[in-house]
Amino acid sequence: MPPYLAQTYWWAYLHPNAVRVFERQWLVNLILWGNFARLRDAALAELGATVRGNLLQVACVYGDFTPQLTRRLAPGAHLSVVDVAPIQVANLQRKLGPHPQVSVMRQDATALRVADASQDAVVLFFLLHEQPADVRRQTLAEALRVTRPGGKLVVVDYHRPSAWHPLHLPMWAVLKTLEPFALDLWQADMASWLPPGTPWASLTQRTCFGGLYQQVVIVR
Ligand SMILES: C[S@@+](CC[C@H](N)C(=O)[O-])C[C@H]1O[C@@H](n2cnc3c(N)ncnc32)[C@H](O)[C@@H]1O
Repeated sequence: MPPYLAQTYWWAYLHPNAVRVFERQWLVNLILWGNFARLRDAALAELGATVRGNLLQVACVYGDFTPQLTRRLAPGAHLSVVDVAPIQVANLQRKLGPHPQVSVMRQDATALRVADASQDAVVLFFLLHEQPADVRRQTLAEALRVTRPGGKLVVVDYHRPSAWHPLHLPMWAVLKTLEPFALDLWQADMASWLPPGTPWASLTQRTCFGGLYQQVVIVR
């Protein structure tokens, strides 16, 4: 188990009670200040109303992000979801039920057992802020490695709220206490975490909710 997960996030993802407590749509929405559906739908829109080809979701997400994604799969499309925590893999398998177009597997984001350039799209939904800088860089390197040229990497995560944002100070205090690596995303843009030398065609960043959240789309 990655040390940051075992030491900093055990209560949210690894403890047997974590799934019982957090697997609630209203709670994940509350944690995102009412922005869950907006961020989910923006990411899904980037992937397309109908998702074709091979899609990889790196890390499970509480709430209905993945169920909504599966509803968009075109016949013949395939969604792989990987997560390093067995309890999260089991929870998602239970949440989705058997689905012929979906595989849920235990894998580490920093060492994906996925072929180079094999995915039409890859999605990272609120994973990077949980990771220390070196792990974040390796996760992005792996996500780009498996994305085919012309394919999309869609990242949704925290960003830096503007100075006048009423939640600037409260969020700084919450993140500093509970999610210390998240403040990295206040300091530096996504491009700075990308592996040097990796070719990508374009990078588009959109922020919302006063800059607290960002969506970054990288076309490989
Ligand atoms: C995507 S993030 C946060 C999602 C969001 N906060 C939510 O509401 O669920 C949480 C997931 O990332 C997984 N995770 C963290 N580090 C990982 C890694 N290195 N490889 C794969 N999964 C990882 C955790 O096990 C957890 O299931």
